Amino acid sequence: MTTTDLPGAGLTPRAVAPTPTPGFSPEKARKDVPILHRTVNGRPLVWLDNGATTQKPRQVIEALTAYYSTANSNIHRGAHTLAREATEAYESGRAKVADFLGAESPGTVVFVRGTTEAINLVAQSWGRANLGPGDEVLVPVLEHHSDIVPWQRVAAERRARVVPVPLLPDGSIDQDAYADLLSFRTQLVAVSHASNVLGTVSPVREMTALAHRYGAKVLVDGAQAVAHMPVDVQDLDADFYVFSGHKIFAPTGIGALYAKPDVLAAMPPWQSGGNMIDAVDFDHTTYAPDPHRFEAGTGNIADVVGLSSALDWLTSFDRKAVAAYETELLAYATQALATVPGLDLLGSGPDRIAVLTFTLAGHDPTAVADWLDQDGIAIRAGHHCAQPLLRHYGLESAARASLALYNTTEEVDQLVTSLHELQQTG
Ligand code: ALA
Repeated sequence: MTTTDLPGAGLTPRAVAPTPTPGFSPEKARKDVPILHRTVNGRPLVWLDNGATTQKPRQVIEALTAYYSTANSNIHRGAHTLAREATEAYESGRAKVADFLGAESPGTVVFVRGTTEAINLVAQSWGRANLGPGDEVLVPVLEHHSDIVPWQRVAAERRARVVPVPLLPDGSIDQDAYADLLSFRTQLVAVSHASNVLGTVSPVREMTALAHRYGAKVLVDGAQAVAHMPVDVQDLDADFYVFSGHKIFAPTGIGALYAKPDVLAAMPPWQSGGNMIDAVDFDHTTYAPDPHRFEAGTGNIADVVGLSSALDWLTSFDRKAVAAYETELLAYATQALATVPGLDLLGSGPDRIAVLTFTLAGHDPTAVADWLDQDGIAIRAGHHCAQPLLRHYGLESAARASLALYNTTEEVDQLVTSLHELQQTG
């Protein structure tokens, strides 16, 4: 089925199939991802819920099996071969993440469960040490709850304030308002690199430069960005950059916090226990060097191995070509969805990743997701953990299709066909 076959296609604008992107074909990625070859409700799975989590290449799955089959051990402790091998795997994963982010050194990378834990770590360690009465944390209205609530909690404790930065009608951050809100009271700006609802890519480099003029630190939430565009934290000049492994083809339960070396060095530890100490006495305890000072307890060693493999897999493709392909796919999907009667897309910012959040007249978003599921198509419906953003549009709920490098124009056609059929049911 192509878009030109869609019900009503003769009456509505057609999507123009993109020309193949030089250097990348989604089939190259698809063949590596086993789950994409299963069926759901008797139909081939169409996975358009990548903003929630991405599917895993067999290389990642095999790396986990190999780790547990041949190398499983705790790290940094045992004086035996397996401990050394597991430690080597864990620390080489850290070096890989540092390289992937363009960080100064592996010592700037702290392993955490994911983006949410990374932000909570910064809020509870840096925030409690640095926020005081009257200080402000600037948070754009489009942020995920995980980049709002941790700041609200530490601000309440420290008698500081969380100040929302308004949006323009197209869903991008109002940069004039941002510049006006910045002041010497601003201690931190917390901003997502790409919105999980609108796909809007914010000008975080420019926003960071402006914040630094006031001496404020900047935390960039890269959860939705890292799978879609190359990131260089030193070029961004971000003080903190955080992401989740499971949104970049790695397992759940592993993610990373990058912090500038001097910023990390000045932060007190967060969680306490084994692995983060140098020496413990009832009179005095000293801590391990960074970043181990921030990794209390046994880390998620196997999933660091999985993350490492996922980064190898992603970087085996030409990332500029992948980004170009995804931009074409977004344009195609935007045009194709415009043919569906009563469909309204949220957000039209100039720079976006391939996230398409929409409402469909006459249908609750959850009912839309249920309908699509009958056709094997997985999208997300709800508030997307971004209630202030949805309220900016006067909504409590919306449907969202979020695409990744392995999605195809044929899958977009299936989504659009199914939505046309839903509209025809009345
Ligand atoms: N934050 C994830 C999403 O946007 C779960 O779906």
